[in-house]
Amino acid sequence: MQIKSRIQLVNSYLDFFKSKNHRQIPNSSLVPANDPTVLFTTAGMHPLVPYLSGNPHPLGKRLVNVQKCIRTQDIDEVGDSTHHTFFEMLGNWSLGDYWKKEAISYTFEFLTKTLCIPKENLAITCFKGDKDAPKDEESANIWLSLGIPKEKIAFLGKEDNWWGPAGQTGPCGPDTEVFYWVSEKKPPKKFNPKDKNWVEIGNNVFMEYHKTPEQKYIKAKQKNVDFGGGVERMISALNLLNDNYLSPLFYPIIKEIENISGLYYNDEKNKTSMRIIADHIKASCMILAEEHQVAPGNTGRGYVLRRLIRRAVRHGFKLGIKENFTSLLLSPIIQIYSDYPELKKNKQFIITQLDAEEKKFRATLEKGLNMFSKFAKNRSISGKEAFLLYQSYGFPIEMTQELAKEKKVKLSLADFQKELKKHQELSRTASAGVFKSGLADNSEKTIRLHTATHMLNEALSIILGSEVSQRGSNITPERLRFDFSFPRKLTDEELKAVESLVNKKISESLEVKREEMPLQKAIDSGAQGEFGHKYPDIVSVYTIIDKKDKRGFFSKEICTGPHVKNTSSIGVFKITKQESVSAGVRRIKAVVED
Ligand code: ALA
Repeated sequence: MQIKSRIQLVNSYLDFFKSKNHRQIPNSSLVPANDPTVLFTTAGMHPLVPYLSGNPHPLGKRLVNVQKCIRTQDIDEVGDSTHHTFFEMLGNWSLGDYWKKEAISYTFEFLTKTLCIPKENLAITCFKGDKDAPKDEESANIWLSLGIPKEKIAFLGKEDNWWGPAGQTGPCGPDTEVFYWVSEKKPPKKFNPKDKNWVEIGNNVFMEYHKTPEQKYIKAKQKNVDFGGGVERMISALNLLNDNYLSPLFYPIIKEIENISGLYYNDEKNKTSMRIIADHIKASCMILAEEHQVAPGNTGRGYVLRRLIRRAVRHGFKLGIKENFTSLLLSPIIQIYSDYPELKKNKQFIITQLDAEEKKFRATLEKGLNMFSKFAKNRSISGKEAFLLYQSYGFPIEMTQELAKEKKVKLSLADFQKELKKHQELSRTASAGVFKSGLADNSEKTIRLHTATHMLNEALSIILGSEVSQRGSNITPERLRFDFSFPRKLTDEELKAVESLVNKKISESLEVKREEMPLQKAIDSGAQGEFGHKYPDIVSVYTIIDKKDKRGFFSKEICTGPHVKNTSSIGVFKITKQESVSAGVRRIKAVVED
């Protein structure tokens, strides 16, 4: 059978290793379970780390699988024909069982017999040796014995032919890599690892060492083999393609981008952008499909996702795509990966998140790009300018770096980081102030605004219903700002009703009382707190007493204060503005006048 499709490749690989007594382990989530040290699963061996040092694996010593992976360290290479942020890895392992001879023979047999790749199109690298470990002659001799000529075997150092440890210490060792010739020209007799027509399609890691905390390499108690092979690259090889984006794993996405943009992939000037979009949106859909519901954000996994989506949107903009388009690519992705049910199951979440993130970024992208061009006139972007693009236009720093590279403009990452740190310290100080006293400044005006904020919170709940809950507040001597959950814009009548109710209660001259009590008691007595806020065990509670109300109060909140003693000193309450903060969260700004 001639193997060409992804499903055929994966199944033949699993069957091959099962015939060599391997047991199949599951294709795990992209969000690694119980491993806080990495953001995403980057290789098939990830879930096996606990078994590399001798703990027995429940399925035995010979394992096989196909694993979805996300790697961002090669993100700058994406745009060429072979690098991806999302890819699938074929993996087979020996946990203290077979060693180099079997491992290399299995790899060779699978590639040349099952996949029928001519051995003339293969080349090999092995570890050249250094002060920590000797040259890996053993692996080279095994390849020679299988019929790979000496000229096709190169020896390289640790940067190319060594894996691990995963952290600072642990199992590690040399690896031997297999390269495939992708050009239409005949492969040269002598292998030059720098020639880009040789593409790595798999590697066997031989974990025979253990790196100690003293940075010494000692012989490991258990020797493991870890093979990893890239599905995308193998599929291209099997289809005699020298561009992964022309393979069935990408071409349907490229076609959709051609449809949307009205441009051709074959036109060299469109290629890089189309590849980046196809790759990044595929990776984004795969991340969004996970049960963990990672959403775009400013830290951790959310930031990686944001970077991927925003970079794709920027390249879409470069191609002249004027409207939201990223979520339209989900359909071909679902077709390519019909065996990943999570894509279909979480289709709505994926579409909503892509649309929202694209919309948000499109709102500032064009202005940000103009700003960038203005800054770039000086042939260098300062740390402050890069920070402004980040803060006000939502440009991930990596995007500004990419733009700077495209326009051959200088940019110092260190200067940007200095700015970022300065800003983070400022906002930490500001929020520490809010936490300490509820207010950064305790002038008479801010105290009046503070009590008015409690009254506004209550009035909103009374007029709009219990859906309203506080999401944040910020008070300066000039105005109050109050964020709360509510799904739509308030009508003018509603705003008027809220304003009137607050003024009515102000004019009733209600007493404001402060008490201290355990947090639970405060909650049980009906005191409100801010959603998601962490409170200490003993809290202070401010009650605006209202004998006419059947609860005995108009408002009761957990708060550090300070507040006015009587509502009569607040003055006249006026709403000046309503805005939307994000989906489902609204903002009101208001003032008090004498
Ligand atoms: N774990 C090895 C790799 O990442 C196989 O390539």
